[in-house]
Amino acid sequence: MKLQRTHTCGELRKAQLDQVVTLNGWVGSYRDHGGVTFIDLYDRWGITQIVFDPDHSAEAHKIAHTLRSQYVVAVKGTVRPRPEGMANPNLATGEIDVYVSEFELLNSSKTPPFDVLHAGSVHAETKLKYRYLDMRSPELQQRIIFRSRATNLIRSYFIGKDFVEIETPILGRATPEGARDYLVPSRVNQGKFYALPQSPQLYKQSLMVSGFDRYFQIARCFRDEDLRAERQPEFTQVDLEMSFVSSEDIITILEGLFVGLMKELKGVGITLPMPRISYQEAMLKYGSDAPDLRFGFEITDITDVFSKTSFGVFKTTIEKGGCIRGINLKGRSSELSRKDLDELTPFVKPMRGKGVAWIRMNEDGPQSPIIKFFSEEESAALYARMDAEPGDVLIFVADAEKIVCQCLAAIRGRFARKFGLVRSDDYAFAWVVDFPLFEADEEGNPTPTHHPFTSPKPEDIHLLSGSREELLKIRSDAYDIVLNGSEIGGGSIRIHDHIVQEQIFRILGIEEEEAAEKFGFLLDALQYGAPPHGGLALGLDRIMMILSGTESIRDVIAFPKTQKATCLMTGAPGPVDEAQLDELAIEVFVLDEDEDTDLDD
Ligand code: AMO
Ligand code: AMP
Repeated sequence: MKLQRTHTCGELRKAQLDQVVTLNGWVGSYRDHGGVTFIDLYDRWGITQIVFDPDHSAEAHKIAHTLRSQYVVAVKGTVRPRPEGMANPNLATGEIDVYVSEFELLNSSKTPPFDVLHAGSVHAETKLKYRYLDMRSPELQQRIIFRSRATNLIRSYFIGKDFVEIETPILGRATPEGARDYLVPSRVNQGKFYALPQSPQLYKQSLMVSGFDRYFQIARCFRDEDLRAERQPEFTQVDLEMSFVSSEDIITILEGLFVGLMKELKGVGITLPMPRISYQEAMLKYGSDAPDLRFGFEITDITDVFSKTSFGVFKTTIEKGGCIRGINLKGRSSELSRKDLDELTPFVKPMRGKGVAWIRMNEDGPQSPIIKFFSEEESAALYARMDAEPGDVLIFVADAEKIVCQCLAAIRGRFARKFGLVRSDDYAFAWVVDFPLFEADEEGNPTPTHHPFTSPKPEDIHLLSGSREELLKIRSDAYDIVLNGSEIGGGSIRIHDHIVQEQIFRILGIEEEEAAEKFGFLLDALQYGAPPHGGLALGLDRIMMILSGTESIRDVIAFPKTQKATCLMTGAPGPVDEAQLDELAIEVFVLDEDEDTDLDD
């Protein structure tokens, strides 16, 4: 390569007028204007318009015609001002052109499978297959660069707070974060498997026992779970753990991190302390443990108003131990058609909702298919409870509590979007605290809400020896951080007393033998002077997704996987040689070919 660049494609301004410069980059668009050829030359830093003018260099101009999109070129030329009225204010380099005098073709390109700079409508599978080309587009590139800036800031922050960055193994043992493990067969220990970490949870607790006091890591985690728009099978956590701290100390450290990140990355100030909501209040008011606080439409419980109702739907719901809750869409009546309201019933079907009722508060009185079933007292109590006034629309769901929460949370979000209350440049952080230590699984047995190493609140520890009902009442010292309705991190104070830890395993039905086999090292470690400790892990991909204003986690990961956990670029996962399988003593039986499409979120 003869012509090595003196500037990047995003660098030249009027200050460099008349200088002779060299640029390297890719050919973007190409326009021929009566003998003069204009090309947008681009690289990571920007776009510069280069001009092949036969009056300036006949030789270079001749070559211009052979150039095609995505050819890699080097050009040497003079910086000239754009003619009067031709400057492009949308382009940082828009006031100048480079008139080419010397030219070098560094590489040609096959015709790309899509227009790299305008790939908006191209099928997602095609873009993932040619991910290296898709990432040549400024949008995607900027997100990846943004992520690099963020990780750099995160690292400096924790180092500045005396944290030690420590890498932990990828080939490890299963940790119980609740998803399926990715397993790696061992050749030298045939029939045995490593599990890729679902998180570095047990390693970081071990590091506290070692006395490192403050640990962090930007750690890759692997979970074989059903994938959705905000989940990937491998993802990145900002993982941390601290000794001799309370949950307040951990929360304070993280609030400091987010103040810095929001200021540096978005130029946004956030008010501290961030709001705190108990799990119970979050479920009641927002129907979700990751509430979106950018808008209101809070949920109100009205079960007691209908305790003696004769309206069949409400009556049977209450008899079955369910609840009735509603949302007041304050002042929105004129913006809602009958169709908007009728669509709600099919909308809640996927959440197992059986129906949605509504009341429109008109100037001349309420209008609804159900009020005819209400007594006067019930109606009056309902309107008072829900602060109903003319112009409002009340929406209700009656069902088992879990279903009511899911349906109303989704309805809340649906109307907030409809009314334009959800802005991606609005950032609502909150801590959700006071989680229950256990939740009931399908058979009613206690399972950990967070993970089995989370400490109960000290004042609730005595309930550990209680009935199943009492167990479900125990609150944990766990906290989640939520941003714009997405859980971006979770953590807890851990159990550092091996007797309590063993007791939790017993409650979870993990027999002593199994506990010793799986977590023996942790139970041992806790007996060698384990300090009180706690920590948290942030979901870096989700944070990047929200801060870069995109709806898909794939947009912030260089080489993401599809819904079916495949990589369309490399073809992973792929078949392996018979010989490799023999070495591992593995035989493969394929039961059926699954032909589902790879992308459906
Ligand atoms: P948890 O399981 O809550 O906690 O995970 C922490 C955060 O990681 C993010 N996250 C994901 N992001 C993308 N794709 C996924 N599949 C995925 N799964 C989780 C979420 C979540 O809040 N060891 C504990 C932390 C601790 O107790 O310190 C843990 O892993 O944003
Ligand atoms: P139905 O008795 O099914 O005709 O329902 C009477 C009214 O109650 C209709 O307006 C339904 O939309 C509403 N409805 C039915 N099921 C529920 C439910 N689970 N929660 C709230 N409203 C419901």
